[in-house]
Amino acid sequence: MKPKVFVSRPIPDQGLDLVKESCDGEIWEGELPPPRDVLLSKVKDIEGILCLLTERVDAELLDSAPNLKVVSNMAVGFDNIDVAECTKRGIPVGNTPGVLTDTTADLAWALLMVGARRIVEGMDYVRAGKWKSWGPMLLLGQDVYGATLGIIGLGRIGAAVAKRARGFDMRILYYDVRRRKDLEAEWGLEYVDLDALLRESDFVTIHTILSPETHHLMGEREFQLMKETAILVNAARGPIVDPEALYEALKEGQIAYAALDVTEPEPINMDNPLLELDNIIIVPHIGSASYATRDKMAEMAARNLIAGLKGERLPNCVNPEVYGE
Ligand code: GLV
Repeated sequence: MKPKVFVSRPIPDQGLDLVKESCDGEIWEGELPPPRDVLLSKVKDIEGILCLLTERVDAELLDSAPNLKVVSNMAVGFDNIDVAECTKRGIPVGNTPGVLTDTTADLAWALLMVGARRIVEGMDYVRAGKWKSWGPMLLLGQDVYGATLGIIGLGRIGAAVAKRARGFDMRILYYDVRRRKDLEAEWGLEYVDLDALLRESDFVTIHTILSPETHHLMGEREFQLMKETAILVNAARGPIVDPEALYEALKEGQIAYAALDVTEPEPINMDNPLLELDNIIIVPHIGSASYATRDKMAEMAARNLIAGLKGERLPNCVNPEVYGE
């Protein structure tokens, strides 16, 4: 008999076909995630779950799934999963690192460029029929080329953003809890503390994980340190930025612009005051959303799931402690 698994949304066939081949899979067909009570009932008899960052995998869910052998998250981030709780129960957790690095860095770069050159305002201007002439003062923005970029979090995606910045002859600063001298040499980076990064950067881009240490890392004090002309990019996790402090900073002109792929909460509420501002762009968490990358993520997530069901080591495991390491 094939092991029972739950897949919490339709995912690309590259992954789904693998799951169907070796598992008795129930796939949640909704466009939206399963409601919590439904999810809890769906996991009752399963041995594996392939989930997304929209599903909270915590002690309550694990209690509801006594046969669970593996949690496979189709994402690189895993802050939706209580990993310690999984480890305690000997359940390996898989993620999908690497394959989405460049796609996410591309999106962060697009946000940066869009903010710098006021692309969305330009489109709105054209659509509104306001384009009557070439204008010497029309929609002036910031130069990216030659400016100073501050990268918060120099993991894979942060480093891929640094690589892009090199092509724009930028001065590149970074802050991370871990210094990366190898990457400093490779990409010409300068390691600075967070305050110096915020003071000196024309663009600040966030690529750190969400953890208790990085929750609201960007708050009132941090925005006050930034340049009034600075642009903030967040393509990591919404709660790294305090949304109320961001609103004040944008409204009061402490910073010039924010370009966000992620928000707190997600999705953003339609009455969130950030949506009333002109100096912001928000897209709906699409950092890894290219056809090719989502295919690869689905396949990786399926391979993690299947390995876990067989009792084999997950190809990408975030809690190798379960293997006694
Ligand atoms: C997306 O945000 C991911 O973590 O893969």
